[in-house]
Amino acid sequence: MRSTNYMDFYIKSERYKRGLNHLIATSVSNVFGIYIPFINFGSNSLFFFPWKGLHLNKKSVKEESGTEKMHGIYRKTPSQDEQEASALKAIELRDLQSQFLHLHHNKIYTKEALETSAKLLEVNPEHYTGWNYRKLAVQHFLNHQSETEADSESIQSVLNEELKVVENALKKNFKSYGAWYHRKWVLSKGHSSTDNELRLLVKFQKLDSRNFNAWNYRRFITMLKKISDEEELQYTTDMIYDNFSNYSAWHNRSVLLSHLFEKRGERQSHKESVLEEEFEFVRNALFTDPDDQSGWFYHLWLLDQTVKLEPFLLSSWPPHGSSRSVDYLDGRNLFPSMHSLSKDRMFPLVLYFSEPVEGVNSSTVTIECEYYANEDVIWRPLSANKFGFSQVWFTYLNLPDEVHSLKDCHVKVFVAQFPDIVSSSGFSCSQTSHIVFSLCVPSHDREHAEGQTVPRFSWKDKEFYSHATQSHDASLLRSLHQLKIAEESKSKAASDWSMKIISNEIAHCRELLSSTNCKIGKLTLARLLMAQNKLISYGIPNDGIEVHYEEILGLYHDLMKLDPVHICCYEDESSLVLLKQVTSSMESILRYCYQYGDSTSPRMYPCLCLRLNGLSLSQIGSVERLLWIQMLDLSHNKIRSIEGLEALQLLSCLNLSNNKICSFTALEPLRSLKSLKVLNISYNEIGAHAVNTRRYLCSSPMTHTVENDWNFKEFTNSGVKLTNHWDVFFIFRDLNLIQLDIMGNAVVNDQLKSFLFKLMPSLKWLDGENRN
Ligand SMILES: *[C@@H]1O[C@H](CO)[C@@H](O)[C@H](O)[C@H]1NC(C)=O
Ligand SMILES: *[C@@H]1O[C@H](CO)[C@@H](O)[C@H](O)[C@H]1NC(C)=O
Ligand SMILES: *[C@@H]1O[C@H](CO)[C@@H](O)[C@H](O)[C@H]1NC(C)=O
Ligand SMILES: *[C@@H]1O[C@H](CO)[C@@H](O)[C@H](O)[C@H]1NC(C)=O
Ligand SMILES: *[C@@H]1O[C@H](CO)[C@@H](O)[C@H](O)[C@H]1NC(C)=O
Ligand SMILES: *[C@@H]1O[C@H](CO)[C@@H](O)[C@H](O)[C@H]1NC(C)=O
Repeated sequence: MRSTNYMDFYIKSERYKRGLNHLIATSVSNVFGIYIPFINFGSNSLFFFPWKGLHLNKKSVKEESGTEKMHGIYRKTPSQDEQEASALKAIELRDLQSQFLHLHHNKIYTKEALETSAKLLEVNPEHYTGWNYRKLAVQHFLNHQSETEADSESIQSVLNEELKVVENALKKNFKSYGAWYHRKWVLSKGHSSTDNELRLLVKFQKLDSRNFNAWNYRRFITMLKKISDEEELQYTTDMIYDNFSNYSAWHNRSVLLSHLFEKRGERQSHKESVLEEEFEFVRNALFTDPDDQSGWFYHLWLLDQTVKLEPFLLSSWPPHGSSRSVDYLDGRNLFPSMHSLSKDRMFPLVLYFSEPVEGVNSSTVTIECEYYANEDVIWRPLSANKFGFSQVWFTYLNLPDEVHSLKDCHVKVFVAQFPDIVSSSGFSCSQTSHIVFSLCVPSHDREHAEGQTVPRFSWKDKEFYSHATQSHDASLLRSLHQLKIAEESKSKAASDWSMKIISNEIAHCRELLSSTNCKIGKLTLARLLMAQNKLISYGIPNDGIEVHYEEILGLYHDLMKLDPVHICCYEDESSLVLLKQVTSSMESILRYCYQYGDSTSPRMYPCLCLRLNGLSLSQIGSVERLLWIQMLDLSHNKIRSIEGLEALQLLSCLNLSNNKICSFTALEPLRSLKSLKVLNISYNEIGAHAVNTRRYLCSSPMTHTVENDWNFKEFTNSGVKLTNHWDVFFIFRDLNLIQLDIMGNAVVNDQLKSFLFKLMPSLKWLDGENRN
C-alpha cells in the first residue's frame, strides 16, 4: 500500500534528521493531499508515526478487480465494448473539436458557438483552449456591456452560465484543473455568491473529501469571503461532530488554533483555557473509538503545545560552584605520559540549554575572568541543525602561559536576560543564569620525555572498582553531577497549569487503557508520563507525583511486541527513558560508576568511568547530566546513532564495541571530541550493509568542506585510494586517537589499517598492533 510505504519512508528519513531538533509545527500533505500533523516533542524525543497500515485513504488505494497499476495509479483496463464506444466517441470529439477551432479562430461568440464549446468541455474538461475560449467570450461580453449601460442582471446570468458549464465538467472529472481554474476566474469577477460556492463544496467534498483542487478552491473562496479563523474553527468542529474520523479536520483545527495563539500571543490564560477545552473535546472522540487514530494525532499535538517552555540554561561544564583542576581535563590523568602531546592548555566551556536555541554570542553570554576579554570569546554551536539552533554551545578557553602554579580563576557566565537567545519554537530566554567556578592549574611536576612508549590502554573488568564502595569520591561525583545552574533559574515558564493538565490526561489515558489495548493509546500514555517527568525535573511543583520509569519502560516493551514493525522507533524512545532513569539521581548513577585504575596506588586524580554496557540502548540521551564524563563504556548495546555524544567534551575513552553502528559517518559526533584518545568500535556493522543512506547525507571531503591544506597526493601516492575511504578520512582526520579498535567490522582490511595509521600520526595502537 502506498500509504504504508510513505510512512515507512518517512520514519526512516526522520530518524536521520533527528539531530535537527527543529520544531515543525506545520505539516505537509502526502501524495493524496491528506494533511498529517507532524509533532515534535522537544529535543530528546523524536517524532514518527509508528502505525502500520495507516490506511488514511482506503478508497484511493483500494485495488479493484480489472485494474492495473500505472505510475502507481490504478487504471481500469477497458473492455471490448468500452473500446468500441470510446472509438465512436473519439470521432464525435474530433468533429466537435474542428467546429470549435473554427469558431475560436474567427472569434465567433454567439449563443450557438458557446454551446458548442460547452459540449466540448463537458466531454473533455481538460480542454484548455476550450476554457480559454470561454474566457474570451465572457470578456468580450463584459467589454461590450461597459460600453452601454451595465446591466448587472445579464452579467449575472452570463457568469451563472459559466458556473453551470464548470459544474457539468466537474461532474465528468472532479479533478479537472482547468475547470476549477475557470471557476476561480469567474468568481474573481465578484458577481457570484460565495455562499453558493461553499454549499456546492460541501456537497462535492462529501463525495470526495480528499480532493486537492477542491481544498485549494475552498481556500480561495474563504479568502474571498474573508471567513474568520473562528468560523473556520467552528466548521471543523461541525465536521468532527459529523464524523470524528477526519484527519483533515483535526489537522485544520491545529493550524487554526496555532494562528489564534499567535494572534493573542500575550494572553497565556486564553491559551490555557482553549487547550483545556480542546483536550476535553478530543477526549470525547478518543473514548468513542480508541482505535481510530485521527484524534490521537491531535492529542499529541495538544500535548506538544502544553509542554512548550521557555528555553533556559539546563547545565554547564564546568558546573556551577565547582573547583576544577585543569590537569583533570584532556585525559591527562589517564595518560600522564601524554603531557607533551597536548601542549595547549585549553579547557572547554559548555552550556547546555533546555531547548535548541540560537543567538548565543559574546553579547548574550558574558565571561568575567581576569585572563580573558569577553569580546574575544567565540561561542560555537555543537550539533546545530541547519537553522543554526543548538542545545549545546561551547567555547575553548586557553590558559595563558604565565598562569603556572595553583591559582584560582573565576569565570562567571551570565546568560543575559536578552530576547536574543531564542528557541526554535520562538520563545526567548527570560531569565538570567550565572555559573561561577574556579580552576586550579597545577604546575608541571611530572614532565615526561617525548617519545616515551605509550602502554596499550586496557579496559578489562579487573581494572574497575565499583564506585559505590568508594564513598569518599561520592562528594566529587555529587559536584560533577550537578544539574541545576542555580535554584532561581528553574523554569518559571511553565506553570502548575501544564502539570495539572498532563496529570489529568494521564488519568484519563489510564482509564481508557484499562478497557482497551490500543497501541497509540499506550504510546500517548508513555509520552504523557515523560512530559510529566520533564516538568518535574524542571522544578515544577508536582504534588508528590513520582515518576514511574518502570511503567513507561513497560509500555514501550508492550509496544515492541504489539507492533514489531516499528521496533526501532520504540527502542529509541525507550533508550531515552532508560537513560533518564539511570541519571535521575545520584544513587542510581552511582550504580553505574566505577573507578578506573589500581586501587592500591590511587591516581592523583580519580577517574570515574560510567559503564552503561549491556542495557539494550539504541541511542544516547540525558547528555546534559553527563557532561563530566571522561570514560564511557557503551559496549554490548544496540546503538545505531551516537548523536548527542558531541556534548561530552571531556570524553577521552569511549567503548562502543559490540553495537549496531553501520557506517563510519554515523560516528560524525566524535569529530567534535578533541580530547578523545581511546576508541573501541570493534564488532559493529560498519560495511556490513550494502546500501547506506546515511553516507550520502554527509558531505564528501572531496568537496568544498575540506580545507585545501590537506595533501591528498601524499595519500594517493601511498597506494591508498582515498575515494574508497573518504568517510574514514572525514571522521578520523580531526581526531587525535592514541588507540583504536575496529576489528570485527566487515569494512576492515590491511589497506584501511595502514590508511588509519597515516591519517592519525598520534595513533599508537590499532587493533592491538603497535605502530612500529
Ligand atoms: C467516517 O469517516 C471514515 C473515513 O473517512 C469512514 O471510514 C467512516 O465510515 C465514517 N463513519 C461514518 C459513521 O460515517
Ligand atoms: C472532513 O473535514 C473537512 C473539514 O475540515 C470536511 O470538509 C470534510 O467533508 C470532512 N470529511 C468527512 C469524510 O467528513
Ligand atoms: C484549513 O486551514 C487553512 C489554513 O488556515 C484555511 O485557509 C482553510 O480554509 C481551512 N479549511 C477548512 C476546511 O477548515
Ligand atoms: C549576538 O547576537 C545577537 C542576536 O543574534 C545580535 O543582535 C548581536 O549583534 C550579536 N553580537 C555579537 C557580538 O555578535
Ligand atoms: C570495551 O568493552 C569490551 C566488551 O565489554 C571489553 O572487552 C573491552 O576490554 C572494553 N575496553 C576497551 C578499552 O575497549
Ligand atoms: C575492544 O572490544 C573488543 C570486543 O569486545 C575486545 O575484544 C577488545 O579487547 C577491546 N579492545 C581493548 C583495547 O580493550
